[in-house]
Amino acid sequence: MTIRIDYTNMMSGAVSGGISSEAWSGAREAFANARQIFVKRREGDELGFINLALDGAGIGALLGFADGTGQAFSDIVVLGIGGSALGPIALRSALRSTSWNALDDEAREYYPRLHVLENIDPVTVTSVLDRVELGRTLFLVISKSGGTAETMAQYLIARGRLQAELGEDYHRHLVFITDPVKGALREIARRDGIAALEIPSNVGGRFSALSPVGLLPAALIGIDVRALLAGAADMFTRCDSDDLASNPAAVFGTLQWLADTTLGRRNHIMMPYSDPLRDFGGWFVQLWAESLGKIQPGGTSVGPTPIPALGVTDQHSQVQLFMEGPLDKTVTFLVVGQRKADLEIPRLHDDIPELAYLGGRTLADLLDAERRATAAALSQRGRLNMTITLDSIDAHHVGGLIMLFEMATIYAGGLYGVNPLDQPGVELGKRFTYALMGRPDAVDAKREWDAIREPEQRWSV
Ligand code: PA5
Repeated sequence: MTIRIDYTNMMSGAVSGGISSEAWSGAREAFANARQIFVKRREGDELGFINLALDGAGIGALLGFADGTGQAFSDIVVLGIGGSALGPIALRSALRSTSWNALDDEAREYYPRLHVLENIDPVTVTSVLDRVELGRTLFLVISKSGGTAETMAQYLIARGRLQAELGEDYHRHLVFITDPVKGALREIARRDGIAALEIPSNVGGRFSALSPVGLLPAALIGIDVRALLAGAADMFTRCDSDDLASNPAAVFGTLQWLADTTLGRRNHIMMPYSDPLRDFGGWFVQLWAESLGKIQPGGTSVGPTPIPALGVTDQHSQVQLFMEGPLDKTVTFLVVGQRKADLEIPRLHDDIPELAYLGGRTLADLLDAERRATAAALSQRGRLNMTITLDSIDAHHVGGLIMLFEMATIYAGGLYGVNPLDQPGVELGKRFTYALMGRPDAVDAKREWDAIREPEQRWSV
């Protein structure tokens, strides 16, 4: 496996206004501190996502469960949100299909289709539930806490339909993936005898892609989950080092942090030049935003804003802003060496210069030329960018990429001086929702809600 980071275009030698060699050498101390924080967290057993890759614990049982189960169903529907949905979506797109919800014909003969209901818009939920044949559908209800309102609402709807149509046989069509001990899902699994897999208690939602959260859906659609873990473990070895210069996660995290905090480049764009990696952007956005957008212990709000983009599509959309808008961004290109397919462009109009130069080249040639051109153009305008190249898109590389960004996020948490593992900022909105929906144990939240009142809509048009 090779995953390489070329960060030449982040540095002042290549890009005016880039990170100077002095600043980069000076960052060694900051990284050493972040590394110490990492080591403490690891010793304190807070970073369960690493063990997932290194131990492979539970993988035999998971594969045993997936083997045969997948073939018994034509459709798998994941009910989950945030970290309980973005991992499965990214894995499906990268390793199974380029379209959001389809398998290629050969795979479909053997493996079920995978749908991920990550939102609660009734239009989407209705359309998926109406489309699948319930008697041939397995619902994976995924929630670490086991009580997230959106996922529970989806679960209740799915279970209601299953019971109405299949009676007691509904059991066979539900699997929970949740905390080993806590939460409503765990309780229901125990009480009603529903199959339930564990998300280790020290693995948070957005770090759970390589737990059963990502691995069970992946295994059910035929992704090589052992290779995913092996790729992640290999990458961990590279990222578990005190040496900033040779540690890819440290390089990514430290450069992005330096660019933000010393050069004001606070918007971090993730731009794959590959459709299969498109949903990796969404997964990265959650990881970077929810982990790093925080209030430091001293009271200062910090954190970069991650933005997803797609090459070449966004060259006709956001790239104008990246080129000429405020100097407040970095761009990370995700690039693939060997693509699974390529198409030669026929020479049909050799007499028309606007078309002749394309004839005989391939779509991959054009994609790569456009990416190199965009990187060079951005650099010329003082826009910092780096390129992460994967030799190919397979389970080993994708596992490696997941671990690279998870480790970078932990290091960046140390650099920003925040806890990358919590998300206190989403709590208040959740409490107000409970108050509005009349959750019986949300008495305090209801009191708080009643005290603030929504402002009257006096300013509207
Ligand atoms: O990263 C996180 O912890 C969150 O984004 C969660 O994944 C999200 O809120 C869903 O939570 P849960 O898995 O508990 O339903």
